[in-house]
Amino acid sequence: MKIAIFSSKSYDRQSLERYNMPFGHELTFLEPRLSPETVALGRGFPGVCIFVNDNCNAEVVADLAKHGTKIIATRSAGYNQIHLATAKQHGVMVARVPAYSPNAVSEFTLALILTLGRKTHKAYNRTREFNFEIAGLEGFELRDKTVGVFGTGKIGQMVIKNLSGFGCRLLAYDKYPNEAVKQWATYVDGPTFARESDIITLHCPLTPETQHILNQETMPYLKDGVFIVNTSRGALLDTNTVIKFLKNGKIGMLAIDVYEEEADYFYRDLSDKVPTNDELARLLTFPNVLVTSHMAFLTDHALRNIAETTLGNFAEFEKTGQCANAVSE
Ligand code: NAI
Repeated sequence: MKIAIFSSKSYDRQSLERYNMPFGHELTFLEPRLSPETVALGRGFPGVCIFVNDNCNAEVVADLAKHGTKIIATRSAGYNQIHLATAKQHGVMVARVPAYSPNAVSEFTLALILTLGRKTHKAYNRTREFNFEIAGLEGFELRDKTVGVFGTGKIGQMVIKNLSGFGCRLLAYDKYPNEAVKQWATYVDGPTFARESDIITLHCPLTPETQHILNQETMPYLKDGVFIVNTSRGALLDTNTVIKFLKNGKIGMLAIDVYEEEADYFYRDLSDKVPTNDELARLLTFPNVLVTSHMAFLTDHALRNIAETTLGNFAEFEKTGQCANAVSE
């Protein structure tokens, strides 16, 4: 199939080209993000491949459909960036990679917790300047903490399993509890989860229900000095409120791999530009905040799975008109 690959970076090109041999797709790599401004680049391609920060809104989906696109496949698990109703209306198949490596995101989540918890990022900077002072680098031990995992699907479950070795108390919250999780964690109701968690890590998808789940109304219910980790989707947090609660100490630590308005910033080198997003700039001034640019997925293992599954999604659709990894409203 002829496939236009938007937002393609060097690592995408490498892995997609490497695993395309058995599929024989004709791949066109495009660096720009898909958006109403760039959609013309995808016109005429039966297959369009996107990533998390592409804007596949109703206008874009309709435009692609009008010009012959039959399938849009995202190289991610989340698909909130695609207007599913419009795709359905135009008979465009939407596919994703349901689980390329829950381990990748889980291990990264633990890396964020351990980095802020033991201040290894600060230690690294100090020793590189020949500063071997350790005052101010006191950390905490996970065995003393209660960690609340919000969303116990593929990634949340792996986070719980991985954390179980640290001896911390594990609480879980999910609309649909998962039997397997109960060997390591205790499911509790929302208020108990909020009240008792020292660390809260978010692993649910972004939906109208979960958007800004941590906001002005819910934040006061959390423990004073709570450590919040978000490797799911930026808009789970109301950034403005988070900044307010960082300033008054309610949030003691924040580690985020995702940011509400990341689409204009993440995956780009803007180091020689003046910061234009005041909230992001403010977040980066806090000593107790760690920001990474949506890279929890980025391992060799995950890239291989993403490439093979995505190329397979196109191949299956071309052959059968169906796709086992299809998503709909
Ligand atoms: P999953 O679908 O296996 O699990 C999601 C869980 O959230 C389910 O158990 C579901 O019942 C629960 N959930 C949904 N709505 C809820 C609500 N309102 N309240 C409580 N629980 C709710 O998804 P998976 O694979 O574990 O991924 C989770 C999220 O991680 C994805 O949606 C995606 O946004 C994010 N992600 C981030 C990556 C990164 O590189 N930072 C990479 C891959 C995924």
